[in-house]
Amino acid sequence: MTVLIRQLHKHFVGEVSGVDVRKPLTKQEAEDIEAGMDKYAVLVFHGQDITDEQQMAFALNFGEREESRGGTVAKKEDYRLSAGLNDVSNLGKDGKPLPKDHRTHLFNLGNSLWHSDSSFRPIPAKFSLLSARVVNPKGGNTEFADMRAAYDALDDDTKAEIEDMICEHSLMYSRGSLGFLDYTDEEKQMFKPVLQRLVRTHPVHGRKSLYLSSHAGAIRGMSVPEGRLLLRDLTEHATQPEFVYVHKWTVHDLVMWDNRQTMHRVRRYDQSQPRDMRRATVAGTHPTVAQEAAE
Ligand code: OGA
Ligand code: MN
Repeated sequence: MTVLIRQLHKHFVGEVSGVDVRKPLTKQEAEDIEAGMDKYAVLVFHGQDITDEQQMAFALNFGEREESRGGTVAKKEDYRLSAGLNDVSNLGKDGKPLPKDHRTHLFNLGNSLWHSDSSFRPIPAKFSLLSARVVNPKGGNTEFADMRAAYDALDDDTKAEIEDMICEHSLMYSRGSLGFLDYTDEEKQMFKPVLQRLVRTHPVHGRKSLYLSSHAGAIRGMSVPEGRLLLRDLTEHATQPEFVYVHKWTVHDLVMWDNRQTMHRVRRYDQSQPRDMRRATVAGTHPTVAQEAAE
């Protein structure tokens, strides 16, 4: 089938038709979707009633699977999902919403802050593919911001000032900003800050993006307050309505985004009702900057 893409937002986001995600893709289809990702940065596929295995197989057209270890406080024996998917639901292993005071639930609330997936890893994620299995009755939209358009709209002085800046990213910064502050020694080790460039260049088309994320908590060579204020200013700029697409979920939507060119967040929803969202994550291929300096 021919891959058709209709642009949904002034700057980015394409709605894809002509693809059945359950079936193996032809080489041409995989190339067309990857090219669509480069251009639109977010692609929306409707009506994709897929299994976990089909979701993972589809993701593997675009690179290797990112290992989900190290990105959560959930214990392996408590995982609800197999097939290497990230559980982005509000559910426990019994399929019911987690209690309001459950540690994993409190940690997962951090997805409501603007972020780019796995920016807390030395090699951050390339693509994320999120499948809606159960849609929450109230709230739970996912918002995306185009970080290329946001970069382009900066003034020249700011562009020059931030060009070579390096940030420290950690899950403890994003969660800490919500008051989640208690970590075991093992978690502190696992969530040790990593370094990321603040401006990154797309490997195919060469456009620059602001590489922001709520995981960023410091800028090298600046005091912590000064660095955080700059990060806040840039985030405020980058998430103005003009750069944001709001996705209202329908069951069996599959939304795929490029973490190198976008940020996203989920909006608040009714935590007494299920929201079953499952994510396949395609690993990045390179760090944005050498990590040695982090030690
Ligand atoms: C994610 C994420 C937001 C949502 O899957 O990485 O942040 O809408 N999800 O659940
Ligand atoms: Mn995310």
